[in-house]
Amino acid sequence: MQENVELQALNTFGLSARARYFCVVDTLAALQGALRFAHEKQLPVFILGGGSNILLRDNVPGLVLHMLIKGIAKLSEAEGSVRVQVSCGENWHAFVTYCLAQGWHGLENLALIPGSVGAAPIQNIGAYGVEAGELIESVTALNTVTGTIETIAAADCAFAYRDSVFKRQYRGSRIILSVVFLLHRSTKVNVSYASLAQALAGTPAPQPADVFAAVVAIRRSRLPDPALLGNAGSFFKNPVIGISEYASLQQRHADLPGHESSDSDVRQVKVPAAWLIERAGWKGRRLGQAGVYEKQSLVLINHGAARAEEIVALAQAISRDVEQQFGILLEPEVQWVPGTKHGDFAMYLPQEL
Ligand code: EPU
Repeated sequence: MQENVELQALNTFGLSARARYFCVVDTLAALQGALRFAHEKQLPVFILGGGSNILLRDNVPGLVLHMLIKGIAKLSEAEGSVRVQVSCGENWHAFVTYCLAQGWHGLENLALIPGSVGAAPIQNIGAYGVEAGELIESVTALNTVTGTIETIAAADCAFAYRDSVFKRQYRGSRIILSVVFLLHRSTKVNVSYASLAQALAGTPAPQPADVFAAVVAIRRSRLPDPALLGNAGSFFKNPVIGISEYASLQQRHADLPGHESSDSDVRQVKVPAAWLIERAGWKGRRLGQAGVYEKQSLVLINHGAARAEEIVALAQAISRDVEQQFGILLEPEVQWVPGTKHGDFAMYLPQEL
């Protein structure tokens, strides 16, 4: 257990904030011990994975648990599919790379996403036509209310666009320990996403390794490397609007892109927030040390010494302009830490654990 630990190197935005208490968790026993400590001291607990989707607004008053439980195991193989269990503290991209090398396919579209495996189900990470939830069989988590370990089937995870049960009913009461993925041996690939299809247009019969390479190349060319320029990927979600609202916006903005969303029975359209932000004039702009990435306007960046307030001020200015011009309210994708109404992930432990 450490005290007053600087978290700057542990969040990809590179923001400076301290954790009152901090503990590296590399075993289940270490997790249980740390939770007992938090319980005795009545500390809120914050679970930190790769720190790639958080905005550290301030010092974290309770106990930060840095999840580094490791391990990848093939559970079974049958009829061309492979079940693979991976612990929460594995690095996501390293896991995707490992699976490809084993000939376990399906995750290649999700290459190079920063962060840890344990965070993947929480916000159902997705890119280039695939969402992690589509390949998850189950999630194993510690229930901090009962102290028991539960296996939650994918069907009960309520996976949706950047959303799951872990952000809703299970928020604050489940700590993800491992995830079972159902991958396949076939070399069938998903190239439904337009920019991916374009990148592979010159490759006849693309293989999973080609998709992996193309995704890595697209991401490297469009998204900033957090090691060089602090950022947390897409800052906002792509808004999903009603089909009639989309049609009326298109009357004023004929080139407004949109894709029908498959998450709901009601006809809805997902609109690229990047386009709205660019049209609102924010692409490449800067407010103090905070800025909008010049090659992808959905990514807010830390030009070096940004304070959280500068990022928040920039996000608010963008949201205000987009709302004024398009009547669309942008919702942040990154999680505010410590929480606000945008999403409080701290856990308050029950009396008995
Ligand atoms: N666009 C612009 N201006 C820009 C960039 C994009 O107008 O500066 C428009 C273009 O019309 C483009 C469209 O936005 O066709 C979509 O752009 P892109 O393919 O880059 O994807 P995105 O919608 O901006 C989403 C995810 C990304 C994911 C990519 C690829 C969200 C919030 N973001 O971005 O995920 O990598 O698709 O699938 O859904 C993340 O979640 O952190 C993330 C990076």
